Amino acid sequence: MSDFNITFDAHYGENIFRAGADDLLKWLKSTDFYTAPASTKYHLAREGGLLEHSINVHNRLKSLVANEYGAVPPYTDETIAICALLHDLCKADFYKIEMRNAKNEVGQWVKVPYYTVDDQLPYGHGEKSVYIIGAFMRLEREEAMAIRWHMGGFDDSLKGGGYAMSGAFTKYPLALLLHMADLQATYLDEKE
Ligand SMILES: [Fe+2]
Ligand SMILES: [Fe+2]
Repeated sequence: MSDFNITFDAHYGENIFRAGADDLLKWLKSTDFYTAPASTKYHLAREGGLLEHSINVHNRLKSLVANEYGAVPPYTDETIAICALLHDLCKADFYKIEMRNAKNEVGQWVKVPYYTVDDQLPYGHGEKSVYIIGAFMRLEREEAMAIRWHMGGFDDSLKGGGYAMSGAFTKYPLALLLHMADLQATYLDEKE
């Protein structure tokens, strides 16, 4: 088992006790969540990348909440862990490996593996994570909002003139903080 497996399970087990949490973890282990990349080629496009990214987002979100609210934050450790560790659950069983031809260092053509998207449940991104989590355990309103809108302005479903995202960020600050934690993890922690 990789270090990231152990770390993810520790972050999960030490913080998430809600009814259904065990079944959700069992389901996660039945998917490729523990081996999936975080993206096809942008950040952590390697085995275990999604797990590493989820841990990075958890660390970042804890810091952001502490910086914003000090010693008495309005969110529990469980809420913070649920939002951060599970925000990209939509990427479980989402990528697959294919082969393509490429030249190696000495100019010979060889087959090399690469990640591509093969979405088994095309339900969107944040909304898909909310949908999957909801099948196992009940999310609080602000948790659902945070996970739904964690992509911020990078969400595929965002249309010009729509106010839903800014409405969510205004009413539910955790949604903005999770989006910021996702950006920090992706662009500060995971650049190579
Ligand atoms: Fe995401
Ligand atoms: Fe993410």
